[in-house]
Amino acid sequence: MTMTDPTTAAHASVAAPRVAFPPGFAWGSATAAYQIEGAAAEDGRTPSIWDAFAKTPGKVLNGDTGDVAVDHYHRFREDVRLMADLGLTSYRFSLSWPRIQPTGRGPAVERGLDFYRALVDTLLEHGISPVATLYHWDLPQDLEEAGGWPVRETAYRFAEYAALAGAALGDRVPVWTTLNEPWCSAFLGYGSGVHAPGRTNPADALKAAHHLNLGHGLAVGALREVLPASAKIAVSLNLHLVRPLTDTPEDREAARRIEAVGNRIWTGPMFKGGYDEDLKADTAHIVDWDELVRPGDEAEIGRPIDLLGLNYYNPTIVSAPSDNAETAEAARNDGHGDSEFSCWPGSEDVVFHLANDDVTAMGWPIDATGLTDSLVGMHRDFGLPLLVTENGAAFEDEVGPDGEVDDPERVRYVELHLQAVADAIAAGADVRGYYVWSFLDNFEWAYGYSKRFGVVHVDYDTQKRTPKTSARWYAEVIRRGGLA
Ligand code: NOJ
Repeated sequence: MTMTDPTTAAHASVAAPRVAFPPGFAWGSATAAYQIEGAAAEDGRTPSIWDAFAKTPGKVLNGDTGDVAVDHYHRFREDVRLMADLGLTSYRFSLSWPRIQPTGRGPAVERGLDFYRALVDTLLEHGISPVATLYHWDLPQDLEEAGGWPVRETAYRFAEYAALAGAALGDRVPVWTTLNEPWCSAFLGYGSGVHAPGRTNPADALKAAHHLNLGHGLAVGALREVLPASAKIAVSLNLHLVRPLTDTPEDREAARRIEAVGNRIWTGPMFKGGYDEDLKADTAHIVDWDELVRPGDEAEIGRPIDLLGLNYYNPTIVSAPSDNAETAEAARNDGHGDSEFSCWPGSEDVVFHLANDDVTAMGWPIDATGLTDSLVGMHRDFGLPLLVTENGAAFEDEVGPDGEVDDPERVRYVELHLQAVADAIAAGADVRGYYVWSFLDNFEWAYGYSKRFGVVHVDYDTQKRTPKTSARWYAEVIRRGGLA
């Protein structure tokens, strides 16, 4: 029998982490309404653009829809208990706009708000701090029929919805994010058309981008009026960590173009006073920026926020056009699905390359250095406290004969990326939390249920939840406060 040092006995079961994270670091996981809730026609909810898109033949793999999803709407108490078992300290979820304000206009539906009140209260009872995202891609279909994001009015509708949600839930939700990955809403939704509403018009894509930005700014203003002074407001951006394939001026020019239309189109007006001239020049043949951006818009978009969220999955490696045989495959591997239409207005001829052959089930390369570089760059460029509001991976998970789901690849992926976050913190970036995507397996947009991102497995026939090895591993990380 070994003797235990009485001064350390109380902590004997939790070894000190090799890689520690700052005190108060949020250990989280993230989901989105359409991907998990189901209950698509309950309690007054009307269709969003994703309901309409998923029901259009050929748009989503296997004809999958979010009608039932993982039935979180009815099983949220069980799901929150599982979160508590894991020791999550924070949970990021999104509010369904058509559940709260079905037509995108008029008063809020109390039954819709009640669901979120109950969810948030359950989280708080378990000591889990909620982070609510206002827009994770589910525009009320009525607003799409009135023109959708390419129409300026949608930005004002969004601010009104933000005010309703903030007034109802602001007493219990301390952190709000306005938009999730507006790049996807604008450029996959209206450019390549692989996401809802499935339009393929580059001018509409750029107009949508501006109106998403404007909606963000107006929503920040509306939220400030209704939220307690202590509430924090953020936005979650999938800023691309763009690397030129080579150091030639041509490849560096390709990287500049992608950074402009991928990243600076958001961060310019949000944090730097306006849209950059090079972005406007690259896209001047597509849209008339002087007509699109009205006086005062950039100031509105630039309203100060408190935290900046990054969703990171892989780096983006680009080159100038070439007739290299790799091109066709690389273009498919830009991570955003097959489409004959571009999701990069004004930069259609840029070629995308795989960083390496170490890929997830999405075909996305695993390279955690991009996360460190992104966080350090964002700290340098914007000076805001940062959150990793999404990071994770899909793999071909299988339930073993013992009923367990062993996912060592996901453990490795998350460990590499947590180490990358620690490296960014060591380099001076002020990172306040990490949210693994996703808590549960769920509806992966155009891929339907074919791609599993959860740390908790869901049997879609029975809705049985089974924490994967990665969930248990993450629980240990949280308990230890860092990596072993
Ligand atoms: C980003 C999106 O926000 C989320 O909804 C999606 O499931 C993940 N990326 C994985 O593709």
